[in-house]
Amino acid sequence: GGAGHVTDYDFSFEGPFGTYDQNQLQRGLQIYTEVCAACHGLQFVPIRTLGDENGPGLPEEQVRAYAEFFEIYDPAIEDWRPATPNDHFPGSNLETAPDLSLMAKARAGFHGPAGLALNPLFRGIGGAEYIASLLVYYTGEEVEQAGTILYENETFEGGLISMAPPLWDGAVEFNDGSPNDVVSMSQDVAAFLMWTAEPKMMERKQMGFVSVILLTILSVLLYLTNKRIWAPVK
Ligand code: HEM
Repeated sequence: GGAGHVTDYDFSFEGPFGTYDQNQLQRGLQIYTEVCAACHGLQFVPIRTLGDENGPGLPEEQVRAYAEFFEIYDPAIEDWRPATPNDHFPGSNLETAPDLSLMAKARAGFHGPAGLALNPLFRGIGGAEYIASLLVYYTGEEVEQAGTILYENETFEGGLISMAPPLWDGAVEFNDGSPNDVVSMSQDVAAFLMWTAEPKMMERKQMGFVSVILLTILSVLLYLTNKRIWAPVK
């Protein structure tokens, strides 16, 4: 198969009024923690943001318990210690595995049509779709190149990736029995990585909406003022 295949999955945060689905972010966090964190890092993400209302929304004591799960090196005491909510997630464990904090904005699933910029408005740039597709579209074929095993993947540029398929059906068990097939989990972890890359998306959309309303009111007022000012000249 050729590379660059991206499925346009439906995500709750798409569109001008889209919002993150808190349960999905929590499932994504669980997948990230149990699977991806073995190799990847999230070095730009403060652990305390897991408590954000517009994010995963974990209760404070859960955030603290979660933080302690990571050991981080503290230069101040020149030693390792359990992380606290004020620390960031650790960076990548595996040198060749890129940090995933901003990956959902570094990759685009959709390109064009050029000019109207309607795709970015209604569908986003497809970073989450790219990540979900990347995890789904392994073909199962492997090749060895210069002593490294590469896995055929229909989404990855070039078609051969050094990351082995990280997910399999049932890889993670959810408390609430949510579906844990590869396609569902891929979307959950992709949604979580969209949130790490853009934690303020909901605030940004709200602010944009309020701005449009205020600018509309302002336009009407200016129009009326303008009429009044020029009324005697007519
Ligand atoms: C690359 C996601 C698990 C090792 C990547 C990329 C993403 C990603 C988005 C970047 C692809 C690109 O450059 O376009 C994930 C997710 C995981 C996961 C969401 C958990 C579900 C793992 C695990 C390992 C790993 C467990 C190690 C055993 C790598 C490596 C690369 C990579 C080595 C670089 C691949 C290359 O450039 O050829 N991963 N990953 N990943 N990942 Fe993962």
